[in-house]
Amino acid sequence: MLNYHNYRYYVLDAPEISDAEYDELMQELIEIEAAHPELITPDSPTQRVGGEPSDAFKPVKHRAKMLSLANAFSFSELTAFFNRICGELGTKQIELVCELKVDGVAVSLVFEHGMYVSGATRGDGEVGEDITANVKTIQSLPLRLFLEAAPDILEVRGEVYLSKKQFEQINKERAESGQPLFANPRNAAAGSLRQLDPKVTATRNLDIFVYGLGYVTGVEFTDHWQSLQYLKAAGLKVSDHIKKVKSIDEAYEFCEVWQEKRHLLPFEIDGVVIKVNSYEQQKKLGLTSKAPRWAIAYKFPAEQKTTKLIDIELNVGRTGAVTPTAVLEPVVVAGSTVSRATLHNEDEIKRKDIRIGDIVIVQKAGDVIPEIVAPVISKRTGKEKSFKMPKKCPSCGGEVVRPRGEAVARCVNMNCPAVIYERVIHFASRQAMDIEGLGESVARQLLDKKMIKDVADIYYLNKDQLLEIEHFADKAADNLYLAIQKSKERPLSRLLFALGIRYVGAHVAEVLADNFTSVNDLASASFDELVAIPEIGPRIAESINSFFREERNQAVIKKLLDAGVKMEQEKKVEGEVSPNTSKLKGLTFVFTGALSQLTRSEAENIVKSMGGRASSSVSKKTDYVVAGESPGSKYDKAKELGVKIISEDEFKRLVSE
Ligand code: IVH
Repeated sequence: MLNYHNYRYYVLDAPEISDAEYDELMQELIEIEAAHPELITPDSPTQRVGGEPSDAFKPVKHRAKMLSLANAFSFSELTAFFNRICGELGTKQIELVCELKVDGVAVSLVFEHGMYVSGATRGDGEVGEDITANVKTIQSLPLRLFLEAAPDILEVRGEVYLSKKQFEQINKERAESGQPLFANPRNAAAGSLRQLDPKVTATRNLDIFVYGLGYVTGVEFTDHWQSLQYLKAAGLKVSDHIKKVKSIDEAYEFCEVWQEKRHLLPFEIDGVVIKVNSYEQQKKLGLTSKAPRWAIAYKFPAEQKTTKLIDIELNVGRTGAVTPTAVLEPVVVAGSTVSRATLHNEDEIKRKDIRIGDIVIVQKAGDVIPEIVAPVISKRTGKEKSFKMPKKCPSCGGEVVRPRGEAVARCVNMNCPAVIYERVIHFASRQAMDIEGLGESVARQLLDKKMIKDVADIYYLNKDQLLEIEHFADKAADNLYLAIQKSKERPLSRLLFALGIRYVGAHVAEVLADNFTSVNDLASASFDELVAIPEIGPRIAESINSFFREERNQAVIKKLLDAGVKMEQEKKVEGEVSPNTSKLKGLTFVFTGALSQLTRSEAENIVKSMGGRASSSVSKKTDYVVAGESPGSKYDKAKELGVKIISEDEFKRLVSE
């Protein structure tokens, strides 16, 4: 049933149930499978993210070579292609299929008797890399085809891609955590597919369109269109934007329409693929060593414009990072006006030799983010000025330091008003504490009027103070006051995100909230305990530890607590599992360290399903602490309190006895 809803949601984009109902069904399944592992099937939706991270991708030989396509860049090149095939086939009666050329990564997927068994990259066309586990994380891919009589072997070819929105989100998170950005959705998709740990791939929300067949036994088709309809009926995601045409003029019209409309699509395309429909005609035309002679890719011209770089502005971010932004003479690129572009950092400006006053080439990375490709050297007048990162912060005049080996320069003044301003904006933002009415102008005034010095001060503002804000009458002050009070009740994950701990984006904050019951609980977590959590690496763990070590941060947290901001939560899984035995009734378990055979939530669910309680902190009331590898402070605490400590194996024995 879940597979059906998955299909409605991810392939058809027409869900029949709400997200909450879906989550409920999923939770139910997890519980059933935890209690009865023998019922787990390979196509179960719980099996999308499985397996251990590997060291490398195994080579896979393709059963049928994965070819690429010849390109055409103009109508006349398309016409030349058409004339050639007409000549070779001795007829002008050729049906063509036009498809979008999605810009992603080519993959081959093998289904045996309807079950997804393997996925591979193109590689050199003969041998690719085994990415079976990573492809499995793609939600729109059915792990079992919707076919009554599935063929023995069905190799499907398609393109794995990232939506523009997802690409932006990934880059936003990477920028927040100081990682290099992906240049476009294709690179981001390729990078995500090549993750050694499928759990990381799963967070990237990749998608796939299928557009053809590879090696197939047990089913036959007469033309390409028919094969696409078959793949669609099998539950695979075939683009809706495909068209059968009878002349090259019509095909060109399809190209023109999509060249114009490409910006409206939620994913990136770089052209149109035109294929001869009939298999008989395809066979007559044959292949070259690299590409079929019955298909051609019409490539859209890259949209680049030139404009003048008026200035390089510096912006001080929440972490003190001083980032340069190009101020441009406004120009329309890929459907929208561009007047600013990020320059990332000083090295990037040097590498591209970009100078203030230059005429520069502008494009949109992945059709989304404006960037400067290069200066037009021939247009230089000699009056252009090179850029140098200032030694003083443009906001507070404090020292700007660029640690050796790092690309980012930072203002080191903890009280820099620009940093505090950004922190306040972040804290109140929708994804964080969601304080409606506390936007840029209000934050600026509260800081300028010295009504707040840090984020905790927001909760000590009274209505009279709020009335001092420009254009604020009674009603606005009331509303903001109420919004501030309301925000005290936000879930733990929101608060953790709002605190602005470096490398803790919205997603990581949720992971943390799933593993800890309170801010205090997280603050006292050891490095080892943190890195034992999937998705929390050493860099994030170190950043969390050092955030809570900092006295100023401790003081802010204390102030938040005193003001009544909710700092804890009920454990998420608690109560959601209805016990099916009462073997562990009344017993409380705490897990610490990395378990090798179960995930922490699986182990907790087992406890729940047997009537026990899983807690995240050790107290005298704890009955068992289950210690995995590199246990953290909970282990020490259990020892101190004399709580019984057992290994993962002992735990498994206990629950299976
Ligand atoms: S057909 C033998 N159709 O474009 C036919 N390719 O060099 C080979 N691509 O990376 C491909 N959308 O993955 C075909 N609708 C489409 C496509 C498509 C994107 C990619 C393909 C490969 C490149 C062709």
